[in-house]
Amino acid sequence: MENKKIKVLFVCLGNICRSPAAEVIFLKKIANRGITDKFIVDSAGLNGYHNGEPADSRMRSHAKRRGYEINSRSRKISRADFEFFDHIIGMDNSNISILKSLTCNNEEICKISKMTDHSPNNQYDSVPDPYYGGSDGFENVLDILEECTDSLINNLES
Ligand code: 4NP
Repeated sequence: MENKKIKVLFVCLGNICRSPAAEVIFLKKIANRGITDKFIVDSAGLNGYHNGEPADSRMRSHAKRRGYEINSRSRKISRADFEFFDHIIGMDNSNISILKSLTCNNEEICKISKMTDHSPNNQYDSVPDPYYGGSDGFENVLDILEECTDSLINNLES
């Protein structure tokens, strides 16, 4: 019998900067480990302001320089996501509060965690919103996401 896939949803406010980057970094790392088939991976946003749009061009170009191709379109998180996904991973404390406010029961609350809580040294408290800042903010987001993702994969697999 085939093993059940682990379903992971990355969430940020707009789903055009942080969570699409988290999704693509996660996908590349599981591909490098040869474990792509173990996961279903997606990303979504909390505000829906950019519904249907490609990821932010600044994030796409910063990610591309590190070898990540972001091709996702923004979508707003839905009620069905809380039922379907096993792990719902937010980027900052505000994301986590909003996500918790959208849950229906304890089982759904237990699916939620903050990306940086998977950091090996807990060096970061959040993945900060880069939208209104400069290039450094986008590089910082990618640094944090790359650092957290390996231990996130280890945590999800164990
Ligand atoms: P993200 O960044 O949450 O990392 O995708 C943002 C992008 C757009 C907006 C907010 C955050 N916005 O409100 O337009």
